[in-house]
Amino acid sequence: MKKILLSGVKPTGRPHIGNYFGAMRQFVQLLNSGDYECYFFIADYHALNLIQNAEEMKRNTLDLAIDYLAIGLDPNKATLFKQSDISAHTELAWIFDTIVTVPYLQRAHAYKDAVAKNKEINVGTFNYPVLMAADILLYDADVVPVGQDQKQHVEYARDIAQKFNNTFCNGNECDQGGVFKLPEPLIMEDVATVPGIDGRKMSKSYGNTIELFASRADIEKAVMSIVTDSDSEIPKNVYAIHKLFKSESELKPLYEANKGKYKVLKEALIEDIGVFIKPLREKRAELAKDENAVLKVLADGADKAKIKADAKLSLAKKAIGVQVN
Ligand code: ADP
Ligand code: TRP
Repeated sequence: MKKILLSGVKPTGRPHIGNYFGAMRQFVQLLNSGDYECYFFIADYHALNLIQNAEEMKRNTLDLAIDYLAIGLDPNKATLFKQSDISAHTELAWIFDTIVTVPYLQRAHAYKDAVAKNKEINVGTFNYPVLMAADILLYDADVVPVGQDQKQHVEYARDIAQKFNNTFCNGNECDQGGVFKLPEPLIMEDVATVPGIDGRKMSKSYGNTIELFASRADIEKAVMSIVTDSDSEIPKNVYAIHKLFKSESELKPLYEANKGKYKVLKEALIEDIGVFIKPLREKRAELAKDENAVLKVLADGADKAKIKADAKLSLAKKAIGVQVN
């Protein structure tokens, strides 16, 4: 039996090269390793905390599905679906809500960050880790590849699984091992945080990204605005992005030979990003021509995922006593 791997991505905007090197590329590698039974889903209900416009939600969801197909997540090898197609996610989240305490959720980093920014927080944002636990536990996931920022959420899923098993699986039919398997995070940390064009972490929320499917003109615009510090001959922000695309042994002589020549180095970076992005962009354009085929991939994925999720939900409902047989 292969280990089960699951991860979700929110459809909140165009992916950037930080997302690619920090997460998306690893998904493809893990899938192609053949070591796992893989589930990848679009976390649209998580995104609803941020995207509250139907057209935008539809567009982002379809775009993300196309992106994932374009980078090589093969629907014949992995189950690709969207969260909202499987009602077991929200149903199980409610069950978990009844065993998770408020102080426990108040300790979540994402919640604390939002509080620190004095944001008025909706219940969905507060409950975010509970829905995420349901996402993970419904599929008996062994490993959950996520960025460092999501590690705590996977730990929450473990805790919630354990708490459910302890609360409901004593001396009844779910006794052997409990209903839920304890997942492990797989922290994709061999890639350091990709810096944005301003030197901070590349992030949609900072507006400092280089988009993964960017046109040549967009790449040029982004690279030319990479902030360069005048106190060093090697522009460190340019170099940090460049080394995603070329080995350091290739880069060292180039940067050595062009000390202080920021424009030349940026032009070399534009070239290298362009070579890397071109085939991805072409594949994406091809896929985008047939949106119905993409929607069909998600529908077929949902059919498969639903069987598994519903079976697990049914076990949970038996364990809590709301389902008799
Ligand atoms: P953003 O900060 O742009 O909103 P997300 O929070 O949606 O990005 O992140 C999606 C995935 O991409 C996560 O697994 C996250 O760890 C990874 N990721 C995002 N930004 C970076 C970055 N700058 N470097 C490496 N990985 C990143
Ligand atoms: N919270 C994750 C993020 O922001 C997305 C996500 C939702 C997820 N459900 C998940 C990731 C389940 C892994 C497993 O990136």
